[in-house]
Amino acid sequence: MQRVPPAPKGHFLVGNIPEFSKDSLNFMLELRAYGDLASFMFGPYRGYITNHPDLVHELLVTHADKTHKTRGLKRALAPILGAGLFTSDGDFWKRQRKLVQPAFHTKRIGAYAETMVEYAQDAVRDWRAGETVEIDLAMNALTMRIIAKTLFDADVNAEAHEAGEAVDTVLEDINQRLNQVVPLPRWVPTSKNRRFYAAVDRLNRLIQRFIDERRTSGEDKGDLLSMLLMAQDADDGGVMTDKQVRDEAMTLFGAGHETTAVAMTWTWYLLSQHLEVEAKLHAELDAVLAGRAPTLADLPRLTYTEMVLKESMRLYPPAFTVTREVTAPFTLGGYDFKPGMVIIVNIYGLHRDARFFPDPDRFDPERFTPENEKRLPKYAYFPFGGGPRICIGNAFAMMEATLLLATIAQRWTLRLAPGQVVEPQRRFTIRPKYGMRMIVEPRQPALAPAPAGEMAV
Ligand code: HEM
Repeated sequence: MQRVPPAPKGHFLVGNIPEFSKDSLNFMLELRAYGDLASFMFGPYRGYITNHPDLVHELLVTHADKTHKTRGLKRALAPILGAGLFTSDGDFWKRQRKLVQPAFHTKRIGAYAETMVEYAQDAVRDWRAGETVEIDLAMNALTMRIIAKTLFDADVNAEAHEAGEAVDTVLEDINQRLNQVVPLPRWVPTSKNRRFYAAVDRLNRLIQRFIDERRTSGEDKGDLLSMLLMAQDADDGGVMTDKQVRDEAMTLFGAGHETTAVAMTWTWYLLSQHLEVEAKLHAELDAVLAGRAPTLADLPRLTYTEMVLKESMRLYPPAFTVTREVTAPFTLGGYDFKPGMVIIVNIYGLHRDARFFPDPDRFDPERFTPENEKRLPKYAYFPFGGGPRICIGNAFAMMEATLLLATIAQRWTLRLAPGQVVEPQRRFTIRPKYGMRMIVEPRQPALAPAPAGEMAV
C-alpha cells in the first residue's frame, strides 16, 4: 500500500474542508504538528504540505520542471488573468518570462522611484490631524495608481475606487472557488457570477484603454507597456499577440498592487502596536533624510526601514502559500509523488516556525539585520516564493514599499482607531478582515544639523 504523510483527522465525507474554510491561516499553523511533510483531505482529494525549508527548496527549485501551477488555480484565475505569467506553464511560460523580465531590471525599475514618492506624497496631502483613514483602502488606491503609472503611463486616480471594488469582487470570488471542491461553473447565471463578470469587464475595459491608447500613439514611453508591445523574443523574433499583451498587462496590474498594499497595511498596524520600533524607524528616517523626500539613492541607507517591512511580511506574508501540481514523478521527504498530486508550500507556517524564528509571533525587525538574515536557512523566509517562478516584481515591490514607508512615516504617525478589531483573514492575500481604520497625526521630522562649513538658513 502507498504510504501517505501524516494528516489530521477529518470528516469522512468532506475531510478537513471545515477547518480549512473556517480559518485557513490557523489550519496552516496546525498542519505543522504533523511533520515536515504532512497531508490533509480536501473532500475526497489528498493535499500535501511542506513544512521544512529544505523540502521547499527541493520542490520549488530541484523539481521545478516536474511541477505546474494547479488546475484549480488556473481555472479560478483564467477568466481574469488569461494565460499571463502567473497562470501559464512550460515552454510558453518560459518564453513569456524571458520577454517580460527586462522590464524588471534594476535600472528600469529605478526610474519609477520618483513616481512612487510623488504619489505617496499626494496620497497623504489631504490628511488632517486626528482624522480617521481607512488605511487599507488608501494603500490599495496608492499602489494601484503607482502600478498604472509605471506600467501604462496612465493616471487612474479617478478610477481607483471603482477599480479597487472590481478587484475586490474578483478576489473574493477566486478565494471562494479555491475553498470549494466542486465550484459552481461560472456560466451558471447566478447573481454572484454576474457580479464577477461585471467586475472582470470593468477591469478589462480599463486595461484595454491603456493598450489602445498606446497602440494608437505608437510612442515608446519607456514603460512596461511599451516594453510588452515591443517585446521581441531573441530566438524567434515573434512579438506578443494582442491577447498576450492584455493577459500580461492584467497579470502585472493584478499581481502588482494588492500584494504591496496589504504589506503596507500590516506594517502600519504593527508600527502602531510597537512604539519602540516606530521610534527607531523615525530616527533612521530623520538621520538619512533630514526632512526631505526620499530618493532612489537613499535606499541603501534605509536599512531599518527595510528590516521593518521584511519582518512585517514575515508575520503577514501577503501570499500565504504557493501551490504546485506534480506533472512527473519524484520523491520528496521520503514519499513518492505522482502526476496530479497537489503540494502546498506553507509560507505562513514557516514564517512563524519557532525553529527558525524564536518567539515567532513577536514583531522584531532585528531578525533581519544583515548578520541575522544570513544565518536564516534558505526558504525559512520567502514572501516572494522561490525557484524559477519567484515573483518577478520582488525588487519593484521592495523598492516601492520602502519608499512609501519612508515618505509617509517621516511626516505622519498612525494609530489604530478606537473599536477597530484586527483579524487577519485569507482572501487570496492575507487581509485584515474588518478593514484597518487608523487615526493619523502629523509629525515634524527632526532636521539633522547642517554639515560643518554650511550655513543653516
Ligand atoms: C509585497 C508584494 C508582493 C508579494 C508578497 C508577491 C508574492 C509573490 C509570490 C509568492 C509569487 C510566486 C507564486 C508562485 O510561485 O506560485 C509571485 C509571483 C508573481 N508576482 Fe508577485 N508579489 C508581490 C509584488 C508583485 C509586483 C509588484 C508585481 C509586478 C509588478 C508582481 C508580479 C508577479 C508575477 C507576474 C508573478 C508570476 C511570476 C511567474 O510565475 O513567472 N508581484 N508573487
